Amino acid sequence: MNDVYSAWKINEKDFPETGTPEDKLSFLAKYAVLAPSTYNTQPWLFEVSQGEMVLSLDRRYGLPVIDPQDRQMIISCSAAILNLEIAAEHFGYSLDIEIFDDAEETDKLAVIKLKDRITHRSDENSALFRAIPERQMNRYHFHSAPLAQDDMVALKKAVSVEGAWIHVCDENEKESLIKMIVDADYAQNSDKNFRREIASWLDKRRVYSGDGMPELQMKCHDLVTTSTPLAVRRFFGDDGDTVPADKMSEGSPVLAIIGSVTGSLENKIKAGKAFMRLLLAAQSRGIGVSTLNQPCQIAETRLRLYDELGLQGRAQIIVRMGYPKKKPLPAPRRPFDKVIIGSGYGTTKAPVKQENIFSKIIQFFRRLFLAK
Ligand SMILES: Cc1cc2nc3c(=O)[nH]c(=O)nc-3n(C[C@H](O)[C@H](O)[C@H](O)COP(=O)(O)O)c2cc1C
Repeated sequence: MNDVYSAWKINEKDFPETGTPEDKLSFLAKYAVLAPSTYNTQPWLFEVSQGEMVLSLDRRYGLPVIDPQDRQMIISCSAAILNLEIAAEHFGYSLDIEIFDDAEETDKLAVIKLKDRITHRSDENSALFRAIPERQMNRYHFHSAPLAQDDMVALKKAVSVEGAWIHVCDENEKESLIKMIVDADYAQNSDKNFRREIASWLDKRRVYSGDGMPELQMKCHDLVTTSTPLAVRRFFGDDGDTVPADKMSEGSPVLAIIGSVTGSLENKIKAGKAFMRLLLAAQSRGIGVSTLNQPCQIAETRLRLYDELGLQGRAQIIVRMGYPKKKPLPAPRRPFDKVIIGSGYGTTKAPVKQENIFSKIIQFFRRLFLAK
């Protein structure tokens, strides 16, 4: 069987300094696949040919129940783009990244090329680069101590440099948010289709494909029949069981929402990159992070985020942060040759924008009604 955890053992000394642009882009993609993704679906495909790399949303790994609009899929792939940028800078390159405007209706998200050589690398870049293979979601109870002021400042900056926003909850807002998490858990667990979907990704046989969360050693049929909240959707309490609602605040010193100004593709990408930069900044400072994203996955609780917390724009992802008590186990990754492949299919050029007035009108209404 493949070692589905070997992706984490990447060695920077293996960078093909004298190789072709394709060799270099393929190597950078090995850092991209260490990004987080919903249920560890890894919904990305990197196709490298003719000096460029096309990143596609791999809809074979879509989640029709929990993520019907592929919003979280785009966030996951955008997190992977940020890893690419950080790794490229570390190896002395800037990237030319062109986004396909129609990615939400098709599959191709971006075409990426090596651009200029960079002679100066910032200390910040080195810290973030080192954090890529070190980072994991931490679903253990955190120490209840609040985060230090300078850590909070660094985390907020990580989000804002990518053009997204972060709202850090005060104590009252934390209680409101926890109620929304509990309500969303209840609504999702009452839905058999949700239970079937999550069961498929948490099943222990996922270890054969190198995706999902097989480390939790769950059995598909047990998950389909249970309606109790799962630790993987909340986090583990100090006793090793799923944390109950009344202990969630104590185990989550910081609860915050990362959002974007609008629901456009460009803004979702900003939110995904901001999320990744925050995760790397947190890792480099010894801060643990996990997500409690269920309120963003249900229309009613997503609206309550705006009503009860006074948020504006689009809430994209909810993070829980604190100083860790325990180091988490890594999640598997699919073998590189299943996600980074050598020859493209179809054209790798971004489509030329239609100048036709009718298609412009159609695109305008599509964006208006499909904006999430
Ligand atoms: C958009 C997005 C949403 C996520 N939502 C949740 C969530 O609601 N609960 C959770 O425990 N983990 C969530 N995760 C984390 C994934 O489960 C995690 O990234 C994946 O299992 C891979 O593990 P790793 O990040 O440690 O490599 C989310 C990740 C992404 C990118």
